[in-house]
Amino acid sequence: MRHLSALLLLFLAGATAAFASRAQPVIGLSLDTLKEERWQRDRDTFIAEAKKLGASVIVQSANSDDTRQIRDVESLISRQVDVLVIVPHNGEAMTRAVKSANEAKIPVIAYDRLILNSAIDYYLTFDNVKVGEAQARYAADRLPQDRPARIVRIYGAPTDNNAKLFKQGQDNILRPLIQAGRVQVVHEDWALDWKPENAKKIMNAAVTKAGRAIDAVVVSNDGTAGGAIQALQEDGLAGKVLVTGQDADLAACHRILRGTQAMTVYKPLKNLASLAARVAVEVAKGGRPAATSTLHNGLKDVPSIFEAIVTVDRSNLEATVVADGFHRAADLK
Ligand code: BGC
Repeated sequence: MRHLSALLLLFLAGATAAFASRAQPVIGLSLDTLKEERWQRDRDTFIAEAKKLGASVIVQSANSDDTRQIRDVESLISRQVDVLVIVPHNGEAMTRAVKSANEAKIPVIAYDRLILNSAIDYYLTFDNVKVGEAQARYAADRLPQDRPARIVRIYGAPTDNNAKLFKQGQDNILRPLIQAGRVQVVHEDWALDWKPENAKKIMNAAVTKAGRAIDAVVVSNDGTAGGAIQALQEDGLAGKVLVTGQDADLAACHRILRGTQAMTVYKPLKNLASLAARVAVEVAKGGRPAATSTLHNGLKDVPSIFEAIVTVDRSNLEATVVADGFHRAADLK
């Protein structure tokens, strides 16, 4: 009898906890990394918006380590969060942790990067194919027309599904030009873990292999653009070769103003992070917020929302990044 009432008590305590947690949901946010500037903003905006909505957030960051990130997610599951929001380091490796979340009946939202072959509930991101198209179009529009242009391509982390989508977008623009003989890819490679030092090595290898006659380097984000530009600087080529990027990192905006980087892609992170917080809170409360699209992740059509992106160069830096409050004009001096 005593045993039974103890069980009953436990059950009631559990029920109260569940009820309380739904009124004030607890969100588990698992990040791949906080190294790049953007992810710190994503985190801060997400937490602020969640707080406004009465939710609290437990944040974990895995420092680009799959084993660690899977452990992070397992620990959030054992802490019985009401919903998981995950930026996977590796879109395939994370499938295992999503299975555990499914078993624990905790909904999962993939944030910015897709989780493959898994029963996730939402995918909230920017239009990543459009990011790649914007980068390649910017470069293509400025390449020499009187001879075949020589370009280097530096892709992102091969473990990040987004890196493939950026490449896909770039391919959409570059492939016809390559086929027509107007563009020649003199070197290409993937920058492991999106590390600037890996991009620098790729750029060094490109110059060693193809020489200094390079017109453009289509780089997939600002961090790796920074690495590539360092390599160009060593060869006295910075500012002479068009370099693309993405994220509107402060350092990249400075480079754009100095002329060593031509463009970046601004992704209004506050839109994505606050959308994600709203969706997470609604899902935690048992709702099914409307998506605007779907994307197949190898297992299912995932309800998805794609936020818009903006091409930025020196001519519109003020009117976009500054006007939107992403960077203060004073910080760009
Ligand atoms: C994001 C980019 C970011 C990159 C490296 C990608 O998945 O979409 O914004 O620069 O990861 O962190």
